[in-house]
Amino acid sequence: MYNVKLLNKISKIGLDKFTENYSYSEDMKAADAIMVRSASMHEMELEESTLCVARAGAGVNNIPVDDLAKKGVVVFNTPGANANAVKELVLAGLFLSSRKIIPAAEWALTLKGSGAETLKLVEKGKSQFTGPEILGKTLGVIGLGAIGALVANAAIALGMDVVGYDPFLSPEANLNGDIKVYSDLEDIYKNSDYITVHVPLNDSTRGMINKDAISSMRDGVKILNFSRDALVSDTDILEALESGKVSRYVTDFPTDSVIGVENVVALPHLGASTPESEDNCAKMAAAEIMDYLENGNIKNSVNMPKADMGKIPVGFKRVCVILQNDENTVANVTAAV
Ligand code: MLT
Repeated sequence: MYNVKLLNKISKIGLDKFTENYSYSEDMKAADAIMVRSASMHEMELEESTLCVARAGAGVNNIPVDDLAKKGVVVFNTPGANANAVKELVLAGLFLSSRKIIPAAEWALTLKGSGAETLKLVEKGKSQFTGPEILGKTLGVIGLGAIGALVANAAIALGMDVVGYDPFLSPEANLNGDIKVYSDLEDIYKNSDYITVHVPLNDSTRGMINKDAISSMRDGVKILNFSRDALVSDTDILEALESGKVSRYVTDFPTDSVIGVENVVALPHLGASTPESEDNCAKMAAAEIMDYLENGNIKNSVNMPKADMGKIPVGFKRVCVILQNDENTVANVTAAV
């Protein structure tokens, strides 16, 4: 019997993947595995029994990934499982950044009660909300992983020119041939009317959209951040909005200082909030946990090398040895005995 502790509400369709050999609950003791969405695990004491953590989502900044690797605890994420949901919201963000949809809708509300005059007032007032089309404009996509690649391809389908940057571009990335991939980030900054960021938050990406980066961008650039708050320097983006260097900032990770600022569109981390993506992530996370606990296989781990030796034959047991030097996990060896 395996015990799974749930740190957040997890989709039932995902939990239904567990066989009768599994029990799961939010107050589970002696957990073999943990399933988490956005709860922070940084201050959490892990039980000795816990062998793995699966994040139902892509970002893992709520999990102490390196510390867990040192303890031999495998951390999984679910790359791609919510990519379509995020892509769709990024496309909405692209339109919100271009046309003044939100201020216009807010203004329309103020016309309530105008009776027969309403349509006349609509026609008279609408010119203040004119905004450009995206057709023929250039979108710069920073990070061409599961989400970035979908966004880039969709923008091509919408008639945009797309330029991309990804120092870790996967040979499996399925990119439209019309997307121009640059090896220098400066080229993205110089050539884009719209820039969208799709990279994980880590020490090398924290604050990457800062004063220096913005100074290389086109005047009036529109920036979209559907990845993580700290990728963008609040102070620097506010200054750039004030000067008009950045004409619109759309973020799914609003901080207190950007909420309510003119030309900021702030959404409450809705990227993956669709029933489809919650189901996909939970199903993938459950499958990763089961394959590890039952067979020792490691797929989609962010802190351990991949291991795949198929299913353990009936009557055998899994033995997994994790080899580490002082800093890193260097290999894991799994055997059926
Ligand atoms: C992700 O990291 O997968 C997205 O930001 C959505 C989420 O946090 O659930």
